[in-house]
Amino acid sequence: MSIISKDISKAIALLNSEELVAIPTETVYGLAGNIFSKKAIESIFETKKRPFFNPLIVHIPSIDFLPDIAASVPEKAKLLAEAFWPGPITLVLKKNSSIPDLITAGKDTVAVRVPNHPMTLELLKKLSFPLAAPSANPFSSISPTTAKHVEQYFKDSIKMVLDGGPCKSGIESTIIGFENDEPVIYRLGSTPIEAIETVVGPITIKNKKEINPDAPGMLERHYAPKTKTVLSTNLPDSINRYKDKRVGLIVFNSAIEDPHITSQIVLSKTSDMAEAASTIYDALHKLDKQNLDIIIAEVLPDYGLGKSINDRLLRATKA
Ligand code: TXA
Ligand code: MG
Repeated sequence: MSIISKDISKAIALLNSEELVAIPTETVYGLAGNIFSKKAIESIFETKKRPFFNPLIVHIPSIDFLPDIAASVPEKAKLLAEAFWPGPITLVLKKNSSIPDLITAGKDTVAVRVPNHPMTLELLKKLSFPLAAPSANPFSSISPTTAKHVEQYFKDSIKMVLDGGPCKSGIESTIIGFENDEPVIYRLGSTPIEAIETVVGPITIKNKKEINPDAPGMLERHYAPKTKTVLSTNLPDSINRYKDKRVGLIVFNSAIEDPHITSQIVLSKTSDMAEAASTIYDALHKLDKQNLDIIIAEVLPDYGLGKSINDRLLRATKA
């Protein structure tokens, strides 16, 4: 029997009994549990095979709940929350003492966001506790952007995926930390840097080595298909190099005619980065099932969401 359902009351009942439910968000599906339930939180780590040093994001129904989670909120964090919530920005803030250590991997900071999905917002409003929700995929594999993706990963280990349709943004939230109250980007994501800079001014992207293991979304190999994946800035060259192999191709806006290509996915025929972001993980999921020798992914223009997509593609190539 399928674990996919649109029944919010059922999701509430399961979460109230310390079970996990996969929930839709605008970015990717999350594997959710009560932040105050030791049983639920341990089960998140176990189900994902995620190391305990990798902290979780806390999901709240609105900015009004922020004081329950964070002990202090820098001015620029407040501006960002007001500008982008509900939406794909996660803020890493000094944690409130009520937040369990298991959530934050013992750190004194906590990651928090208000997701922008009507079903999950309704769910969060009806629950008496926030939800911890990492992406609903086994550790380091491709994040799920449909209920079906989650079912394929976890049908034997969780009871329900709340079906909210395909995720609109399609890559994870942008994570922002604070150093001396100034924002820094820990993980590129669905909110482009340019949009963030219009609110708080110029912002730096932290090199993963400088914050390791703060944001293991920064771990080198992450979001990765099983099939060997390479990035390309010159598609004809790359295709030629692998011409005796079964090649899968991911291109930005226009298909390549070449008999050596076994399977090909165009991310956005109209060169729309938002559309490309919403389809990139599904493209990787699809090609990964086709028994290919190699996936060649075209590098996107390196600005806006293109920069975030390139970041994910680069991580998918790490063997
Ligand atoms: O879009 C998203 O953010 C999705 C949806 C479900 O909300 N969630 C998500 O969670 O991507 P996850 O667990 O796959 O990635 C969370 C990232 C990890 O890289 C983790 O290291 C980082 O957030 N993180 C969590 N708490 C942190 C903290 N206190 N300091 C620094 N990084 C933190
Ligand atoms: Mg993840």
